[in-house]
Amino acid sequence: MSKVIVLDHPLIQHKLTLIRNKETGSKDFRDLVTEVAMLMGYEVTRDMELEDITIETPMGTMESKVLSGKKVGLVPILRAGLGMVDGMLRLIPVARVGHIGLYRDPETLLPVEYYCKLPQDVKDRTLYVLDPMLATGGSAAAAIDFLKDRGAVSIKLVCLIGSPEGVKVVQERHPDVDIYLASLDEKLNDHAYIIPGLGDAGDRLFGTK
Ligand code: PRP
Ligand code: URA
Repeated sequence: MSKVIVLDHPLIQHKLTLIRNKETGSKDFRDLVTEVAMLMGYEVTRDMELEDITIETPMGTMESKVLSGKKVGLVPILRAGLGMVDGMLRLIPVARVGHIGLYRDPETLLPVEYYCKLPQDVKDRTLYVLDPMLATGGSAAAAIDFLKDRGAVSIKLVCLIGSPEGVKVVQERHPDVDIYLASLDEKLNDHAYIIPGLGDAGDRLFGTK
């Protein structure tokens, strides 16, 4: 079974409170999501591999560490996942970015794919799937299906807020994918919105409602 890691760093928790607040407008919402994504990025990349190389400092020779191991791919789920890309890219500027377009059908609540463009070498990368909201889990689980269909073997899911229902679905369908959250909220409402949540992440990011 995969791990569920709730990142309780005080800065993440403080900024998440501002993000949730309905008085926070789109510009601040976007800026805060970027900041939280960067802070989460710092935590979710803790297990990256390092190797020693020899370098010359102005004072002499030393063995020093650089990243080794798998390269990184970021995979935002459109559209709200886009809000988390810049924060992660500030930490890992060489990461490749793939996009998966999914929307949740309001009637069936099932994810519908409308776009998919990924780096060719997804099988050689550690992929971070980005989406602020893990509600029913349908979108995240479908996005991970696409990645696995294209050969991906190392995948982590990074969301701001998850529901117990969504976590269960992803864990059942993808027991190899660890889930990183800034908060595990209480439940879903009758329209599959997370309670207390933050409302509609895409609309708040892009000012579409
Ligand atoms: C939201 C959110 C997730 C999905 C979560 O996107 O960003 O992708 O819903 O719901 P689920 O876990 O029940 O699948 P939405 O479908 O509203 O599209 P948008 O990002 O284009 O607004
Ligand atoms: N999508 C959102 O944007 N918010 C929710 O609470 C659930 C799905």
